[in-house]
Amino acid sequence: MTVTEERPSGTAHVPFAMRDPLRVPRERYFDRGFFELEKQRLWPRVWQMACRLEEIPSPGDFVEYEICDQSIIMVRQADRSVKAFYNACRHRATELCKGSGRLPGGQIRCPFHGWRWNLDGSTSFLYGADGFDPESLQPQDVRLRECKVDIWGACAWINMDPDARPLREALSPAAEIMESFGVDDLRVYWWKEAIIPANWKLAQEAFHEGWHVMATHPQLTLGAGEDYPPGAAEHATFENGHARFQGRHDPSSMVVSKSRGAQGFLDSMRLLWEGQDAMVLERDVRVFEGVRNLVGPGEDYPTAAVKALVEYAAGAGVPLRATPESMRLWGGEVFLFPNFFFLPMYSNALSYRVRPYNDDPEMCRFEVWSLTMPAEGAEPQRARLKGRFATDDADNWGRIPRQDFSNLQRQQRGLHSHSFDSHRLSREWERAISNMHEELDRRLAT
Ligand code: FES
Ligand SMILES: [Fe+2]
Repeated sequence: MTVTEERPSGTAHVPFAMRDPLRVPRERYFDRGFFELEKQRLWPRVWQMACRLEEIPSPGDFVEYEICDQSIIMVRQADRSVKAFYNACRHRATELCKGSGRLPGGQIRCPFHGWRWNLDGSTSFLYGADGFDPESLQPQDVRLRECKVDIWGACAWINMDPDARPLREALSPAAEIMESFGVDDLRVYWWKEAIIPANWKLAQEAFHEGWHVMATHPQLTLGAGEDYPPGAAEHATFENGHARFQGRHDPSSMVVSKSRGAQGFLDSMRLLWEGQDAMVLERDVRVFEGVRNLVGPGEDYPTAAVKALVEYAAGAGVPLRATPESMRLWGGEVFLFPNFFFLPMYSNALSYRVRPYNDDPEMCRFEVWSLTMPAEGAEPQRARLKGRFATDDADNWGRIPRQDFSNLQRQQRGLHSHSFDSHRLSREWERAISNMHEELDRRLAT
């Protein structure tokens, strides 16, 4: 794995370009011209996660994926593969599908004049065809326009560039890291979204480092406060704009919990479970509690608790990986450029996807999935968005995400301050931020 250190090439054509890896010009988060350049050169040419496969489990299922002014429909085919079509009628442009659901009769039907297409995009019915010149209705021209699609990590990804390089290559080396965790086995436990008054990149950057825990999530320091070590996690950047952070500590214990003994470990697990109902789930806490009084001499509780969880998983048919490599990922994060995250833990993970919202550089749509590896033989369920919730909605967001969201509006407003010109980044803990911006510049420059 390589660390990307080179300066972006061809930055001459990029406004507010990255010229210093420790500085990010503020205009990149609100300038209309910069946002338009992203719409023109980034989004139409980058692989992006369009849907989880569980959203379209059966042939004829569809879901709409919107990115800026483009709408794409993801359609499960009869042979269970997935196709992606531009969501515009070949007659007079009407959007064919909205939201998600099952296509009646396996037909994509335009609501305006009733033209229809099969699941594979070929035309099945052109109402009033005899009133058209034959050359207007050439089959190859009237069939739905496809967009490149590929599958990775139990998700369907799209790329509007027909010459795009292979998905797996574009996701490297982040893909390998998540494969060692067992990313294909993850399924949706819940899925929610929020609209956040912040640029899509700014919102992501709240999750590019773990050292904001001390100030933003003080409860997770278990009373250590400002003595909480800023270097509790190690941060790495990779080629293709990807990045990762993970614990430096013994993977069987979490953050400061080991030094605080059994109660500290249990407390931190409960805080993670109750704080977001993701990464650590009730099932895990119950297993940990079950071995609370069974720790053998010379054995420390976190190690025994994790061992019990691994045994429980083996018995229940949960494909939890407990290799040293996958265990080091627990409690950390993997970022896949440009806008997708995993935060793996035990047999669970959080996952985020962040997109611009309403053609506004200062708004974004932030989705959160709590994922888990179901026990063998469990019925796969159709994944449905539970809803869109205000960022301070305590009934629907745990304390941890509400804390993360709370900084973003203030930060976006701060960017407009006449006193401020650029982020100043820590070389040690915040390089994932500039690594993402440098990759963005490479995309914008070409
Ligand atoms: S616009 Fe779709 S059939 Fe006319
Ligand atoms: Fe956070």
